[in-house]
Amino acid sequence: MKKRKTILITGGAGFIGSHVVRLFVTKYPDYQIVNLDKLTYAGNLENLKDIEDRPNYTFVRGDIVDRPFLMELFEKYRFDGVIHLAAESHVDRSILNPLAFIETNIIGTVNLLDAARRTWGEQLDDKLFYHVSTDEVYGSLGETGYFTEETPYDPRSPYSASKAGSDHMVRAWHHTYGLPVVLSNCSNNYGPCQFPEKLIPLVINNIKHNKPLPIYGDGKYTRDWLWVVDHAEAIDLIFHKGKVGETYNIGGNNEWKNIDLVEKLCDIMDELLGRPAGSSRRLITFVKDRPGHDRRYAIDAGKIRRELGWQPTISAEEGLRLTAKWYLENEDWLNNVTSGAYQQYYESQYRERIAE
Ligand code: NAD
Ligand code: TYD
Repeated sequence: MKKRKTILITGGAGFIGSHVVRLFVTKYPDYQIVNLDKLTYAGNLENLKDIEDRPNYTFVRGDIVDRPFLMELFEKYRFDGVIHLAAESHVDRSILNPLAFIETNIIGTVNLLDAARRTWGEQLDDKLFYHVSTDEVYGSLGETGYFTEETPYDPRSPYSASKAGSDHMVRAWHHTYGLPVVLSNCSNNYGPCQFPEKLIPLVINNIKHNKPLPIYGDGKYTRDWLWVVDHAEAIDLIFHKGKVGETYNIGGNNEWKNIDLVEKLCDIMDELLGRPAGSSRRLITFVKDRPGHDRRYAIDAGKIRRELGWQPTISAEEGLRLTAKWYLENEDWLNNVTSGAYQQYYESQYRERIAE
Protein backbone atom coordinates (compact mmCIF):
# COMPACT_ATOMS: atom_id res chain seq x y z
CA MET A 1 0.00 0.00 0.00
CA LYS A 2 1.35 3.43 -0.97
CA LYS A 3 1.74 6.00 1.80
CA ARG A 4 -0.06 8.97 0.39
CA LYS A 5 -1.56 10.74 3.34
CA THR A 6 -2.61 14.23 2.33
CA ILE A 7 -5.02 13.95 -0.54
CA LEU A 8 -6.78 16.56 -2.60
CA ILE A 9 -10.15 15.45 -3.97
CA THR A 10 -11.61 17.91 -6.47
CA GLY A 11 -15.36 18.03 -7.09
CA GLY A 12 -16.01 16.30 -3.77
CA ALA A 13 -19.33 18.08 -3.24
CA GLY A 14 -20.74 16.61 -6.46
CA PHE A 15 -22.44 13.29 -7.05
CA ILE A 16 -19.54 10.83 -7.43
CA GLY A 17 -17.05 13.01 -5.57
CA SER A 18 -19.15 12.99 -2.39
CA HIS A 19 -19.16 9.18 -2.37
CA VAL A 20 -15.38 9.15 -2.89
CA VAL A 21 -14.81 11.70 -0.11
CA ARG A 22 -17.02 9.73 2.29
CA LEU A 23 -15.19 6.48 1.50
CA PHE A 24 -11.72 7.98 1.99
CA VAL A 25 -12.58 9.99 5.11
CA THR A 26 -14.17 7.02 6.88
CA LYS A 27 -11.88 4.23 5.63
CA TYR A 28 -8.59 6.07 6.13
CA PRO A 29 -8.76 8.04 9.40
CA ASP A 30 -4.99 8.71 9.22
CA TYR A 31 -5.31 10.49 5.86
CA GLN A 32 -6.06 14.20 5.57
CA ILE A 33 -8.70 14.68 2.90
CA VAL A 34 -9.08 18.15 1.37
CA ASN A 35 -12.21 18.56 -0.74
CA LEU A 36 -11.86 21.41 -3.25
CA ASP A 37 -15.11 22.39 -4.91
CA LYS A 38 -16.47 25.52 -6.55
CA LEU A 39 -20.03 24.62 -5.51
CA THR A 40 -21.59 25.15 -8.90
CA TYR A 41 -25.26 24.24 -9.28
CA ALA A 42 -24.09 20.58 -9.15
CA GLY A 43 -22.09 20.87 -5.92
CA ASN A 44 -23.91 20.50 -2.64
CA LEU A 45 -22.38 20.32 0.83
CA GLU A 46 -25.55 18.60 2.06
CA ASN A 47 -24.13 15.50 0.35
CA LEU A 48 -21.39 15.36 3.01
CA LYS A 49 -23.34 16.39 6.15
CA ASP A 50 -22.62 13.05 7.86
CA ILE A 51 -18.82 13.40 7.67
CA GLU A 52 -18.23 17.16 7.66
CA ASP A 53 -17.10 17.26 11.30
CA ARG A 54 -14.50 14.51 10.99
CA PRO A 55 -11.03 15.73 12.04
CA ASN A 56 -9.41 14.35 8.86
CA TYR A 57 -11.71 16.32 6.52
CA THR A 58 -11.37 19.88 5.24
CA PHE A 59 -13.56 21.66 2.71
CA VAL A 60 -12.13 24.45 0.57
CA ARG A 61 -14.34 26.43 -1.78
CA GLY A 62 -12.46 27.36 -4.94
CA ASP A 63 -12.28 27.20 -8.70
CA ILE A 64 -9.79 24.97 -10.55
CA VAL A 65 -9.71 27.55 -13.32
CA ASP A 66 -8.06 30.00 -10.89
CA ARG A 67 -4.31 29.27 -11.24
CA PRO A 68 -2.87 31.51 -8.49
CA PHE A 69 -5.40 30.15 -6.01
CA LEU A 70 -4.44 26.56 -6.92
CA MET A 71 -0.72 27.24 -6.54
CA GLU A 72 -1.33 28.65 -3.05
CA LEU A 73 -3.46 25.66 -2.12
CA PHE A 74 -0.78 23.20 -3.26
CA GLU A 75 1.92 25.16 -1.41
CA LYS A 76 -0.15 25.18 1.75
CA TYR A 77 -1.12 21.50 1.91
CA ARG A 78 1.78 19.81 0.03
CA PHE A 79 -0.57 17.08 -1.24
CA ASP A 80 0.78 13.56 -1.80
CA GLY A 81 -2.03 12.67 -4.11
CA VAL A 82 -4.79 14.23 -6.18
CA ILE A 83 -8.05 12.57 -7.17
CA HIS A 84 -9.57 14.85 -9.77
CA LEU A 85 -13.31 14.66 -10.28
CA ALA A 86 -14.30 18.33 -10.62
CA ALA A 87 -15.92 18.86 -13.98
CA GLU A 88 -18.90 20.17 -15.83
CA SER A 89 -20.57 16.81 -16.33
CA HIS A 90 -23.89 17.04 -18.18
CA VAL A 91 -24.09 16.49 -21.95
CA ASP A 92 -27.28 18.56 -22.43
CA ARG A 93 -25.72 21.55 -20.66
CA SER A 94 -22.60 21.16 -22.81
CA ILE A 95 -24.81 21.59 -25.86
CA LEU A 96 -26.29 24.79 -24.38
CA ASN A 97 -23.01 26.25 -23.07
CA PRO A 98 -19.87 24.49 -24.37
CA LEU A 99 -17.38 27.14 -23.18
CA ALA A 100 -17.89 26.37 -19.49
CA PHE A 101 -16.86 22.79 -20.32
CA ILE A 102 -13.66 23.86 -22.07
CA GLU A 103 -12.76 26.11 -19.15
CA THR A 104 -13.36 23.73 -16.26
CA ASN A 105 -12.65 20.40 -17.91
CA ILE A 106 -9.61 21.32 -20.00
CA ILE A 107 -8.11 24.51 -18.54
CA GLY A 108 -8.98 23.48 -14.98
CA THR A 109 -7.33 20.08 -15.44
CA VAL A 110 -4.20 21.64 -16.94
CA ASN A 111 -4.02 24.07 -14.02
CA LEU A 112 -4.14 21.16 -11.57
CA LEU A 113 -1.51 19.18 -13.49
CA ASP A 114 0.76 22.19 -13.53
CA ALA A 115 0.26 22.96 -9.84
CA ALA A 116 1.09 19.32 -9.00
CA ARG A 117 4.18 19.33 -11.23
CA ARG A 118 5.50 22.61 -9.84
CA THR A 119 4.90 21.67 -6.22
CA TRP A 120 6.21 18.13 -6.48
CA GLY A 121 9.30 18.99 -8.56
CA GLU A 122 11.63 15.98 -8.55
CA GLN A 123 10.09 14.53 -5.35
CA LEU A 124 7.78 12.13 -7.13
CA ASP A 125 8.06 9.02 -4.92
CA ASP A 126 4.62 7.98 -3.77
CA LYS A 127 2.98 10.94 -5.50
CA LEU A 128 -0.01 10.36 -7.77
CA PHE A 129 -2.34 12.41 -9.92
CA TYR A 130 -5.52 10.39 -10.53
CA HIS A 131 -7.80 11.68 -13.25
CA VAL A 132 -11.40 10.46 -13.26
CA SER A 133 -12.90 10.33 -16.72
CA THR A 134 -15.77 8.89 -18.71
CA ASP A 135 -16.41 6.17 -21.28
CA GLU A 136 -17.99 8.87 -23.47
CA VAL A 137 -14.52 9.76 -24.81
CA TYR A 138 -14.65 6.55 -26.89
CA GLY A 139 -17.65 7.71 -28.93
CA SER A 140 -20.66 5.65 -29.83
CA LEU A 141 -21.06 1.87 -30.31
CA GLY A 142 -23.48 0.03 -32.59
CA GLU A 143 -25.49 -2.97 -31.43
CA THR A 144 -22.40 -4.99 -30.50
CA GLY A 145 -18.89 -4.55 -29.07
CA TYR A 146 -17.39 -2.95 -25.98
CA PHE A 147 -15.02 -0.10 -25.16
CA THR A 148 -11.61 -1.35 -24.02
CA GLU A 149 -8.66 0.73 -22.84
CA GLU A 150 -7.32 0.50 -26.41
CA THR A 151 -10.45 1.83 -28.15
CA PRO A 152 -9.47 4.97 -30.12
CA TYR A 153 -10.93 8.22 -28.84
CA ASP A 154 -13.91 9.54 -30.84
CA PRO A 155 -15.76 12.07 -28.65
CA ARG A 156 -18.86 13.58 -30.19
CA SER A 157 -20.38 16.05 -27.71
CA PRO A 158 -18.78 19.17 -26.23
CA TYR A 159 -18.80 17.33 -22.86
CA SER A 160 -17.05 14.20 -24.12
CA ALA A 161 -14.65 16.22 -26.28
CA SER A 162 -13.67 18.32 -23.27
CA LYS A 163 -13.12 15.18 -21.17
CA ALA A 164 -11.09 13.63 -24.00
CA GLY A 165 -9.00 16.82 -24.12
CA SER A 166 -8.38 16.59 -20.39
CA ASP A 167 -7.39 12.90 -20.66
CA HIS A 168 -4.86 13.80 -23.38
CA MET A 169 -3.41 16.55 -21.19
CA VAL A 170 -3.00 14.16 -18.26
CA ARG A 171 -1.13 11.69 -20.47
CA ALA A 172 0.95 14.52 -21.94
CA TRP A 173 2.05 15.61 -18.43
CA HIS A 174 3.01 12.01 -17.72
CA HIS A 175 5.01 11.44 -20.91
CA THR A 176 6.56 14.89 -21.13
CA TYR A 177 7.22 15.82 -17.51
CA GLY A 178 7.20 12.40 -15.86
CA LEU A 179 4.21 13.25 -13.65
CA PRO A 180 2.93 10.03 -12.03
CA VAL A 181 -0.65 9.72 -13.27
CA VAL A 182 -3.38 7.15 -13.49
CA LEU A 183 -6.71 7.43 -15.31
CA SER A 184 -10.05 5.65 -15.25
CA ASN A 185 -12.91 5.86 -17.73
CA CYS A 186 -16.25 4.89 -16.24
CA SER A 187 -19.73 4.23 -17.58
CA ASN A 188 -22.92 6.00 -16.40
CA ASN A 189 -23.25 6.11 -12.62
CA TYR A 190 -26.47 6.13 -10.59
CA GLY A 191 -27.36 6.26 -6.90
CA PRO A 192 -27.98 8.76 -4.06
CA CYS A 193 -27.12 12.47 -4.49
CA GLN A 194 -27.14 12.63 -8.30
CA PHE A 195 -28.41 15.98 -9.55
CA PRO A 196 -31.85 15.51 -11.16
CA GLU A 197 -30.81 16.72 -14.60
CA LYS A 198 -29.49 13.20 -15.34
CA LEU A 199 -31.91 10.54 -16.53
CA ILE A 200 -32.51 8.40 -13.43
CA PRO A 201 -33.08 11.09 -10.76
CA LEU A 202 -35.00 13.23 -13.27
CA VAL A 203 -37.40 10.37 -13.93
CA ILE A 204 -37.78 9.55 -10.22
CA ASN A 205 -38.54 13.21 -9.44
CA ASN A 206 -41.02 13.50 -12.31
CA ILE A 207 -42.83 10.29 -11.36
CA LYS A 208 -43.15 11.60 -7.83
CA HIS A 209 -44.76 14.80 -9.14
CA ASN A 210 -46.82 13.08 -11.85
CA LYS A 211 -44.96 14.97 -14.57
CA PRO A 212 -44.17 13.69 -18.11
CA LEU A 213 -41.11 11.43 -18.38
CA PRO A 214 -39.18 12.76 -21.39
CA ILE A 215 -37.59 10.01 -23.51
CA TYR A 216 -35.28 11.34 -26.20
CA GLY A 217 -35.76 9.97 -29.75
CA ASP A 218 -36.86 6.35 -30.02
CA GLY A 219 -35.75 5.48 -26.47
CA LYS A 220 -33.49 2.71 -27.71
CA TYR A 221 -30.26 4.49 -26.78
CA THR A 222 -28.28 2.22 -24.48
CA ARG A 223 -26.17 2.93 -21.41
CA ASP A 224 -24.18 0.69 -19.04
CA TRP A 225 -25.22 1.71 -15.50
CA LEU A 226 -22.95 1.42 -12.46
CA TRP A 227 -23.92 1.84 -8.79
CA VAL A 228 -21.97 4.91 -7.64
CA VAL A 229 -20.57 3.26 -4.49
CA ASP A 230 -19.01 0.57 -6.69
CA HIS A 231 -17.33 3.35 -8.66
CA ALA A 232 -15.96 4.89 -5.46
CA GLU A 233 -14.56 1.48 -4.44
CA ALA A 234 -12.90 1.13 -7.85
CA ILE A 235 -11.33 4.59 -7.44
CA ASP A 236 -9.98 3.58 -4.02
CA LEU A 237 -8.41 0.42 -5.52
CA ILE A 238 -6.89 2.22 -8.49
CA PHE A 239 -5.55 5.01 -6.29
CA HIS A 240 -3.77 2.52 -4.04
CA LYS A 241 -2.95 -0.36 -6.37
CA GLY A 242 -3.19 0.90 -9.95
CA LYS A 243 -0.06 1.09 -12.08
CA VAL A 244 1.33 4.53 -12.78
CA GLY A 245 0.73 5.60 -16.39
CA GLU A 246 -2.13 3.14 -16.87
CA THR A 247 -5.80 3.54 -17.70
CA TYR A 248 -8.60 1.39 -16.28
CA ASN A 249 -12.09 1.10 -17.72
CA ILE A 250 -14.86 0.75 -15.13
CA GLY A 251 -18.37 -0.46 -15.99
CA GLY A 252 -21.40 -2.11 -14.50
CA ASN A 253 -21.88 -4.86 -17.10
CA ASN A 254 -25.46 -3.63 -16.83
CA GLU A 255 -26.78 -2.39 -20.16
CA TRP A 256 -30.25 -0.93 -20.49
CA LYS A 257 -32.11 0.71 -23.33
CA ASN A 258 -33.43 4.00 -21.93
CA ILE A 259 -37.07 3.05 -22.43
CA ASP A 260 -36.64 -0.28 -20.60
CA LEU A 261 -34.84 1.44 -17.74
CA VAL A 262 -37.55 4.09 -17.39
CA GLU A 263 -40.30 1.44 -17.45
CA LYS A 264 -38.48 -0.46 -14.72
CA LEU A 265 -38.23 2.72 -12.63
CA CYS A 266 -41.96 3.36 -13.17
CA ASP A 267 -42.78 -0.09 -11.80
CA ILE A 268 -40.50 0.31 -8.77
CA MET A 269 -41.90 3.76 -8.02
CA ASP A 270 -45.54 2.56 -8.33
CA GLU A 271 -44.77 -0.08 -5.76
CA LEU A 272 -42.95 2.28 -3.38
CA LEU A 273 -45.61 4.98 -3.69
CA GLY A 274 -48.49 2.50 -3.39
CA ARG A 275 -49.88 3.51 -6.78
CA PRO A 276 -51.77 1.05 -9.02
CA ALA A 277 -49.39 -1.02 -11.17
CA GLY A 278 -48.81 0.60 -14.56
CA SER A 279 -49.86 4.13 -13.55
CA SER A 280 -46.44 5.79 -13.88
CA ARG A 281 -45.77 4.24 -17.29
CA ARG A 282 -48.57 6.47 -18.60
CA LEU A 283 -46.31 9.47 -17.97
CA ILE A 284 -43.74 8.30 -20.55
CA THR A 285 -43.48 10.89 -23.32
CA PHE A 286 -41.26 10.52 -26.38
CA VAL A 287 -39.65 13.89 -27.14
CA LYS A 288 -37.29 15.49 -29.65
CA ASP A 289 -33.89 13.80 -29.66
CA ARG A 290 -30.65 15.21 -28.25
CA PRO A 291 -28.43 16.51 -31.09
CA GLY A 292 -25.52 14.15 -31.81
CA HIS A 293 -26.95 11.58 -29.35
CA ASP A 294 -24.52 8.65 -28.88
CA ARG A 295 -26.36 5.40 -29.57
CA ARG A 296 -24.71 2.99 -27.18
CA TYR A 297 -21.99 2.89 -24.52
CA ALA A 298 -20.74 -0.40 -23.07
CA ILE A 299 -17.58 -1.08 -21.12
CA ASP A 300 -15.29 -4.08 -21.09
CA ALA A 301 -14.11 -3.94 -17.47
CA GLY A 302 -11.90 -7.04 -17.83
CA LYS A 303 -8.64 -5.25 -17.05
CA ILE A 304 -9.64 -3.87 -13.64
CA ARG A 305 -11.28 -7.21 -12.78
CA ARG A 306 -8.18 -9.25 -13.71
CA GLU A 307 -5.51 -6.89 -12.40
CA LEU A 308 -7.14 -5.36 -9.32
CA GLY A 309 -9.91 -7.83 -8.52
CA TRP A 310 -12.71 -5.25 -8.77
CA GLN A 311 -16.27 -6.04 -9.78
CA PRO A 312 -19.69 -4.46 -9.31
CA THR A 313 -21.40 -5.62 -6.12
CA ILE A 314 -25.12 -5.12 -6.54
CA SER A 315 -27.77 -6.04 -9.10
CA ALA A 316 -29.64 -3.46 -11.16
CA GLU A 317 -32.90 -4.37 -9.42
CA GLU A 318 -31.36 -3.73 -6.01
CA GLY A 319 -29.52 -0.57 -7.07
CA LEU A 320 -32.54 1.02 -8.74
CA ARG A 321 -34.75 0.22 -5.76
CA LEU A 322 -32.20 1.68 -3.31
CA THR A 323 -31.90 4.78 -5.47
CA ALA A 324 -35.66 5.33 -5.76
CA LYS A 325 -36.03 4.86 -2.00
CA TRP A 326 -33.21 7.31 -1.28
CA TYR A 327 -34.90 10.06 -3.32
CA LEU A 328 -38.24 9.41 -1.65
CA GLU A 329 -36.70 9.46 1.81
CA ASN A 330 -34.65 12.59 1.13
CA GLU A 331 -37.41 14.94 0.13
CA ASP A 332 -35.68 18.04 1.54
CA TRP A 333 -32.52 17.34 -0.48
CA LEU A 334 -34.59 16.96 -3.64
CA ASN A 335 -36.75 20.02 -2.93
CA ASN A 336 -33.66 22.15 -2.26
CA VAL A 337 -31.88 21.26 -5.47
CA THR A 338 -34.99 21.52 -7.64
CA SER A 339 -36.01 24.97 -6.44
CA GLY A 340 -34.81 28.17 -8.11
CA ALA A 341 -32.31 27.77 -10.93
CA TYR A 342 -33.33 24.17 -11.65
CA GLN A 343 -36.78 25.34 -12.72
CA GLN A 344 -35.26 27.65 -15.33
CA TYR A 345 -32.98 24.90 -16.63
CA TYR A 346 -35.88 22.45 -16.80
CA GLU A 347 -38.08 24.94 -18.62
CA SER A 348 -35.45 25.77 -21.23
CA GLN A 349 -34.52 22.12 -21.75
CA TYR A 350 -37.99 20.57 -21.90
CA ARG A 351 -40.67 23.20 -22.60
CA GLU A 352 -40.55 22.93 -26.39
CA ARG A 353 -39.71 19.25 -26.38
CA ILE A 354 -42.73 18.35 -24.29
CA ALA A 355 -45.09 20.80 -25.98
CA GLU A 356 -44.35 19.24 -29.40
P1 NAD B 1 -21.23 16.45 -10.80
O1 NAD B 1 -21.63 17.42 -11.86
O2 NAD B 1 -22.28 15.85 -9.92
O3 NAD B 1 -20.17 17.13 -9.82
C1 NAD B 1 -19.12 17.92 -10.29
C2 NAD B 1 -18.56 18.70 -9.11
O4 NAD B 1 -17.47 19.52 -9.60
C3 NAD B 1 -19.56 19.64 -8.46
O5 NAD B 1 -19.52 19.52 -7.05
C4 NAD B 1 -19.10 21.03 -8.90
O6 NAD B 1 -19.41 22.06 -7.96
C5 NAD B 1 -17.61 20.82 -9.06
N1 NAD B 1 -17.00 21.78 -10.01
C6 NAD B 1 -17.46 22.09 -11.26
N2 NAD B 1 -16.68 23.03 -11.80
C7 NAD B 1 -15.67 23.29 -10.91
C8 NAD B 1 -14.55 24.16 -10.91
N3 NAD B 1 -14.30 24.96 -11.97
N4 NAD B 1 -13.74 24.16 -9.85
C9 NAD B 1 -13.98 23.36 -8.76
N5 NAD B 1 -15.06 22.54 -8.71
C10 NAD B 1 -15.89 22.51 -9.77
O7 NAD B 1 -20.40 15.33 -11.57
P2 NAD B 1 -20.28 13.77 -11.28
O8 NAD B 1 -21.36 13.07 -11.99
O9 NAD B 1 -20.09 13.56 -9.85
O10 NAD B 1 -18.92 13.46 -12.06
C11 NAD B 1 -17.66 13.57 -11.40
C12 NAD B 1 -16.56 13.20 -12.37
O11 NAD B 1 -16.76 11.87 -12.86
C13 NAD B 1 -16.51 14.10 -13.61
O12 NAD B 1 -15.16 14.31 -13.93
C14 NAD B 1 -17.20 13.27 -14.69
O13 NAD B 1 -16.71 13.59 -15.97
C15 NAD B 1 -16.81 11.87 -14.27
N6 NAD B 1 -17.76 10.81 -14.66
C16 NAD B 1 -19.09 10.92 -14.35
C17 NAD B 1 -19.94 9.87 -14.70
C18 NAD B 1 -21.41 9.93 -14.34
O14 NAD B 1 -22.17 9.05 -14.75
N7 NAD B 1 -21.89 10.89 -13.58
C19 NAD B 1 -19.46 8.74 -15.35
C20 NAD B 1 -18.09 8.68 -15.64
C21 NAD B 1 -17.25 9.71 -15.28
P1 TYD C 1 -27.79 11.26 -19.05
O1 TYD C 1 -28.24 10.81 -17.71
O2 TYD C 1 -27.86 12.70 -19.41
O3 TYD C 1 -26.31 10.68 -19.27
P2 TYD C 1 -25.39 10.64 -20.63
O4 TYD C 1 -26.00 11.46 -21.68
O5 TYD C 1 -24.11 11.19 -20.13
O6 TYD C 1 -25.32 9.18 -20.98
O7 TYD C 1 -28.65 10.47 -20.14
C1 TYD C 1 -28.70 9.05 -20.15
C2 TYD C 1 -29.48 8.63 -21.36
O8 TYD C 1 -30.84 9.06 -21.20
C3 TYD C 1 -29.00 9.27 -22.66
O9 TYD C 1 -29.18 8.34 -23.73
C4 TYD C 1 -29.96 10.46 -22.86
C5 TYD C 1 -31.27 9.93 -22.27
N1 TYD C 1 -32.14 10.94 -21.67
C6 TYD C 1 -33.51 10.97 -22.03
O10 TYD C 1 -33.98 10.16 -22.85
N2 TYD C 1 -34.29 11.92 -21.44
C7 TYD C 1 -33.83 12.83 -20.55
O11 TYD C 1 -34.60 13.71 -20.06
C8 TYD C 1 -32.44 12.77 -20.18
C9 TYD C 1 -31.85 13.75 -19.19
C10 TYD C 1 -31.63 11.81 -20.77
